Amino acid sequence: MNGYDSALFENRTVVVTGAGRGIGAAVVVAFLGCGAKVVAHAGRDLSHTEGDLLSRVPQGARSRLTLLTEDLSQPEGGADLARQILDRTDRVDVLVNNAGTMGGRIAAGTETREDYDHILDLNIRSVVALTGALLPALKAVDGASIVNTVSISGRSGGSAGSALYSGAKAFVSAWTKTLAKELAPDGIRVNAVSPGTIMTDFHRRYSSKEKLDATAAAIPLKRLGTADDCAPAYLFLAANALSGYMTGQILEVNGGQLMP
Ligand SMILES: NC(=O)c1ccc[n+]([C@@H]2O[C@H](COP(=O)([O-])OP(=O)(O)OC[C@H]3O[C@@H](n4cnc5c(N)ncnc54)[C@H](OP(=O)(O)O)[C@@H]3O)[C@@H](O)[C@H]2O)c1
Repeated sequence: MNGYDSALFENRTVVVTGAGRGIGAAVVVAFLGCGAKVVAHAGRDLSHTEGDLLSRVPQGARSRLTLLTEDLSQPEGGADLARQILDRTDRVDVLVNNAGTMGGRIAAGTETREDYDHILDLNIRSVVALTGALLPALKAVDGASIVNTVSISGRSGGSAGSALYSGAKAFVSAWTKTLAKELAPDGIRVNAVSPGTIMTDFHRRYSSKEKLDATAAAIPLKRLGTADDCAPAYLFLAANALSGYMTGQILEVNGGQLMP
């Protein structure tokens, strides 16, 4: 299915959120290619799943994939998704917290309570709630791992109108490090992938072609990233065989756009 070790995650169960399209879909395809069972939260519904995800999953791997939906911008979204996951599996080896979005470009001083609730509930509250609810399952296996999706904007500040989103991703970066310290005694490693400018529906929604062309020209590798550029970083951070001595780290995948 890909160039990865097809037994790297054999007999392991991996949960991925925001997996119906974009980076999450590429991450699911990569884990399936490494032999994992995957419980994938597709998003709010399955409308993007056929084109972006299922069309890339070989027939032989379909039986290892379970699809769920949940609106994670609702205050109880994380807890409700956890219940759905635990109804389907009692084993969780890897949790990839990837669902998220900017929720629109919002000029400073014009934020509404709805903007604030939507962006923070989706990018922070649901992540903390889902992780907390899955901790007993993660603690019950040997060598569990959590990989969060943060963002270059959590470190750089992002571009105009992204303040709440960028701040939320900075929160998840700091939370990743705290959790790494707190869960180390339980044998759980916690790391994050920080994508740069990745050409998914995210930027089709929020960035003009001119802005993206200018961004690509300023990136040392002279192009925007793809979802498939990001997926190997998740495999690496989730696999004890590859990154067993790494925890609390933020792995930048950005073509050299930011070198912290
Ligand atoms: N693309 C980039 O340049 C970039 C850079 C840095 C970080 N990131 C982060 O990478 C992650 C994946 O983004 P992407 O680029 O792959 O974007 P994407 O193609 O828009 O995918 C986002 C995923 O999150 C899900 N999601 C969004 N709002 C949701 C909600 N209210 N409830 C449940 N699920 C929801 C989407 O589901 P629906 O189909 O229901 O919308 C989708 O599955 C996000 O956390 C994003 O913030 C992206």
